[in-house]
Amino acid sequence: MVLTPSAIDFVTPLTLATLSKNRVYSDFTEDKDTGEWTNHVELGLWGDLMLIAPISANTLSKLASGACDNFLMATFLSAKCPVMIAPAMDLDMYSNAATQDNISILKKRAIQVLDSPSGELASGLSGKGRMEEPEEIGMAVEEFFTKKEPLKGKIALVTAGPTYENIDPVRFIGNYSSGKMGFAIAERLAEKGAQVTLVSGPSSLSPIHPNIKIIRVTSALEMKAACEAVFTSTHYTIMAAAVADYRPENSSDQKIKREKKGEFSINLIPNPDIIKALGIKKSKDQFLLGFALETNNALENAKKKIDSKNLDAIVLNSLEDEGAGFGVDTNKISIIDSDNKITRFELKSKSDVALDIVDFIITRTIT
Ligand code: PMT
Repeated sequence: MVLTPSAIDFVTPLTLATLSKNRVYSDFTEDKDTGEWTNHVELGLWGDLMLIAPISANTLSKLASGACDNFLMATFLSAKCPVMIAPAMDLDMYSNAATQDNISILKKRAIQVLDSPSGELASGLSGKGRMEEPEEIGMAVEEFFTKKEPLKGKIALVTAGPTYENIDPVRFIGNYSSGKMGFAIAERLAEKGAQVTLVSGPSSLSPIHPNIKIIRVTSALEMKAACEAVFTSTHYTIMAAAVADYRPENSSDQKIKREKKGEFSINLIPNPDIIKALGIKKSKDQFLLGFALETNNALENAKKKIDSKNLDAIVLNSLEDEGAGFGVDTNKISIIDSDNKITRFELKSKSDVALDIVDFIITRTIT
């Protein structure tokens, strides 16, 4: 909590700290004798939302001009999070063109300006300029966080990376998937509030968000078992892993030696189709999103996969598009839904592609 010098005329830091049970900052130096510094930059970066309530005409104009003459203003200028303000002043000050211009400037800068309702004012006059009721401010804050985390309470399963199918202890059949696409989706889902289980084949990546639980697997059979263990409790399942369709029928416990003569062949048997198995079990409350990595007849093949695997939608990425697919930091996708409606996206970073995918899911299932 931060008090401006003028706010201290109304309420002392000690009173506010005692009542709120929070630390109250009002100055750049915590201790005038030692000169110990309060780090406004750290505070500005720490917050998820900065709420200034009440905000006077004076502080409002400083916000618009960028003045930095007190601790609150230094914190505001350092803040990277969204800002919400609840103006409170006399009716003529509020309706003054200068104040209204300042409010417009702040709105253009995406600062959320709460309404100042009409009613009795400190001057004894009555009109527009009162601080919004605390309950209303509380609801605005709650709405802000609900919007930010529309997937709060939802459980998601994401697969990422390749699978390795062992030939012997030193060789395997694999593919070029790095895990970047699946990890990015897991991060975006978690940022939107979901609790995510990320089942990943061999990848050098690690998840960052604390709401992501990673299960590392190697083969398709291991990936299937890990997915099936959590699938029934999930609301969203997104399968971005590049699963090997075949595995060696027999994998040797010993390193296979090179023979002097002759050819060497490995008999391959089909791996289970994990997403298809999940599609069969899917209930009407579950959303199952597949990926299709195609090299030719991309659209046609992707559409077929929606039906054959009982998917709600499929993300098509084609190796025909430059910058799309394996390994790279970018991707170019189209999302096809079960009604065959296609939404096309530009080439973007995998992080932004993941956001498009998560927004698509939210639009389809929540809003
Ligand atoms: O990891 P990156 O380097 O970032 O690369 C990302 C990616 C290119 C791997 C990713 O964007 C992608 O396209 N993943 C799916 C690749 C793939 O296996 O596509 P597919 O068309 O063969 O499979 C269709 C769907 O069935 C996929 O959701 C796949 O996960 C799933 N599948 C496939 C085979 C199998 N045995 N079981 C499955 O569940």
